[in-house]
Amino acid sequence: MQTKTVKICDIRDSDAVASLKEAAEIIKNGGLVVFPTETVYGLGADGTSPNAAKSIYAAKGRPSDNPLIIHIASPEDAEKYTFTNEMYYKLAASFMPGPLTVVLKAKSSVALETRAGLDTVAVRCPVNSVAHELIRLSGVPIAAPSANLSGSPSPTCASHVISDMNGRVDMIIDGGESEIGLESTIVKIEDDGALTLLRPGGITVEELKDICPNIKIADAVLAALKEGEAVLSPGMKYKHYAPTAPMYLIDAADDKRFEYVKNERKNAAAICFLDEMEKYSEILPKESVFCIGERNDLKSQAHLLFSVLRNTDRGHFDLIYAPMPIKEGIGLALYNRMIRAAAHRIIKL
Ligand code: TXA
Ligand code: MG
Repeated sequence: MQTKTVKICDIRDSDAVASLKEAAEIIKNGGLVVFPTETVYGLGADGTSPNAAKSIYAAKGRPSDNPLIIHIASPEDAEKYTFTNEMYYKLAASFMPGPLTVVLKAKSSVALETRAGLDTVAVRCPVNSVAHELIRLSGVPIAAPSANLSGSPSPTCASHVISDMNGRVDMIIDGGESEIGLESTIVKIEDDGALTLLRPGGITVEELKDICPNIKIADAVLAALKEGEAVLSPGMKYKHYAPTAPMYLIDAADDKRFEYVKNERKNAAAICFLDEMEKYSEILPKESVFCIGERNDLKSQAHLLFSVLRNTDRGHFDLIYAPMPIKEGIGLALYNRMIRAAAHRIIKL
C-alpha cells in the first residue's frame, strides 16, 4: 500500500485544512490514518465498522482479542457509543479533553471487532488539535491503538511511525513530538461508581483520587501476571514496549547501580539521568549511554522514555541497564512501562 505522509503545524493553515479533510474522507471510507495525539501517535479507523477495525489489527500485527480505544471529539459524544453515568461526567469535567480513557458499558453502535467482543468500550477525548479536528471532520468515533507494531514502544514522533507503519496505512499525519510521551491513563467505572486503574498515564492516581477517592489499582499495573491469572484489561497480558536487547532495572542506590554497570563485561547499554551522563561515558562507549532526562523531572523522563527505548535498538547491545523509577505521580506510569519493557527483570542490590 502507498502511504501518503503530510505534516501539520497549525490546523488553520490552508494546506492543513485540505489534508485533514482528505484524512477524514479516508476514515469515512474505511481506511487507516495515523494521527498525533498528546500522549502517543494513534493508528485510526472508523470504530463503527467491523472491517475497518479488522484492518487496524492487521496493520499493527495485534491479536484481535485486545480491544481498541474509541476517540471522540467531545465528552458528550460518549452518549452515542456508551452508557454513561455520573462518575463519567465528573471525570470528564476535570480531565477531558486530555489523556484519560474511561471504560464504560458499550452500545451496539461500536463494532464488536473494535471492542474485541467485550460488552464494554474504552473512550477518550484527545486535546491535541489535529486529533480533535480529524475526529470532528470524520463524524465517527475513531478507533485507535498506539501506532506501533505490536510489542514495540509506542511512537512519539513521526519518524517512529514511519519506521513501523509506512506501507501499512493510507496516510500518516506528522504533528511533531507527542507532548506527554506515554499513553493515556485508563480507568474502568465499576457498577458502584468506584474506579479501577487499568493503566497509569498522564493523569495521575493522585489527581483521580481528588475526584473519586474510591480507586483501586489493578494488580497487573505493578506486578507480573501470575500463570493463568484473569486480566481486567486484555492489553496487560501481552509483551510490551520491548527494546530488542533484554533490559534490566537496577533497584539500588545510584552509586551501587554505577558500580554494577562498571563491572559488566558484556556489550551493555546504560540508561541514566542527565547528571550521570559524564561518569557513565567514562566506563562505556558514548554510543552506549542514553539520557532519560533530569533525575527530578518525571515529566521529561516520560516524554523521552519511548524514544530512548527505540534508540537502544540501533546499538545491537547484549543487554540494557536502567534505573528503577519511583512510583509517584507520572512516575507510576514510567514504572509500569519500564517493568514491561524489562519483562519484569529487576536486579535488587
Ligand atoms: O494514549 C492512548 O491511549 C493511545 C492514543 C492513541 O490514544 N492509545 C493507546 O491504545 O494506547 P492501545 O490500544 O495501544 O492501548 C489501549 C489499551 C489496551 O491495553 C487494551 O487492552 C485496553 O486499552 N482496553 C481497550 N478497551 C478496553 C476495555 N473495554 N476494557 C479494558 N481494557 C481495554
Ligand atoms: Mg499500545
